[in-house]
Amino acid sequence: MCDLTGKHGLIVGVANKRSISWAIAQAATAAGARLALTYPSERLEENVRELALKLENPLVLPCDVTSDQQITDLAASLDREFGGLDFAVHGAGFAPPDALHNPFVETSRESFRIALDVSAYSLVGLTRAVTPLMEKRGGGSILTLTFIGSDRVYPNYNVMGVAKAALESSVRYLASDLGPKNIRVNAISAGAIKTLAASGIAGFSSILQVYRDRAPLRRSVDTSEVADAAMFLLSPASRAVTGEILMVDAGMHAIGL
Ligand SMILES: NC(=O)c1ccc[n+]([C@@H]2O[C@H](COP(=O)([O-])OP(=O)(O)OC[C@H]3O[C@@H](n4cnc5c(N)ncnc54)[C@H](O)[C@@H]3O)[C@@H](O)[C@H]2O)c1
Repeated sequence: MCDLTGKHGLIVGVANKRSISWAIAQAATAAGARLALTYPSERLEENVRELALKLENPLVLPCDVTSDQQITDLAASLDREFGGLDFAVHGAGFAPPDALHNPFVETSRESFRIALDVSAYSLVGLTRAVTPLMEKRGGGSILTLTFIGSDRVYPNYNVMGVAKAALESSVRYLASDLGPKNIRVNAISAGAIKTLAASGIAGFSSILQVYRDRAPLRRSVDTSEVADAAMFLLSPASRAVTGEILMVDAGMHAIGL
């Protein structure tokens, strides 16, 4: 049921081998998909190209999600090369470092704008761009990655929590808009994982310890576990699921104290 043979997918958000999006790219390749990976800047291009060598005939394309032009160009390249698109993974997130160190009340207008632009609006822009490509395939599946800091306060998560709340709400509005085109939009809310993005959050290791102490499974999750859940949401196995935030967090969300 989680077979992706013959499908074409876009994966945004691979920075290095620890990226959640990289685990999803590997799982999607193993399930038979052909992929396009993106890089947001020249600084990360080499990393992404090196990782892409491990995939089956991938495309590697630029896309800084803050640029409407780059999103448009990306969709045009995908259309040219793939002739449509079956699924897209949005794993881009960023907040300026000051916003992840200072108290939330100190968040500047500019840091707030950047965090919401990169981490939430980009899902809307990207979804709009790939919609015509998915219509060519009779539908599609779009998946983004979120964290429970959208709903509860986590130390130093700050403006990222606000951005994730906007992202999760966007998932529901996009799902409503695009459902009639058979395009599904969902999110995975992952447990804490030590990645490049996570290392920007002050005191992240103590969050991991809380998972070990209190999550029902007495641990957090790893990227391959998020990728396995992603295969469900990207494949026809989840064909009746949209507008959903799926918790893949070792049960942490169920715990009150
Ligand atoms: N690591 C965790 O604990 C955790 C938990 C839940 C959700 N998430 C979310 O998962 C997603 C992936 O993060 P990760 O933990 O794999 O870290 P990561 O650092 O590997 O991935 C973040 C990605 O965002 C990309 N990015 C940043 N600015 C961009 C821009 N302007 N244009 C395009 N791409 C841009 C980076 O290049 C990077 O590939 C993020 O949305 C993150 O918030 C992470």
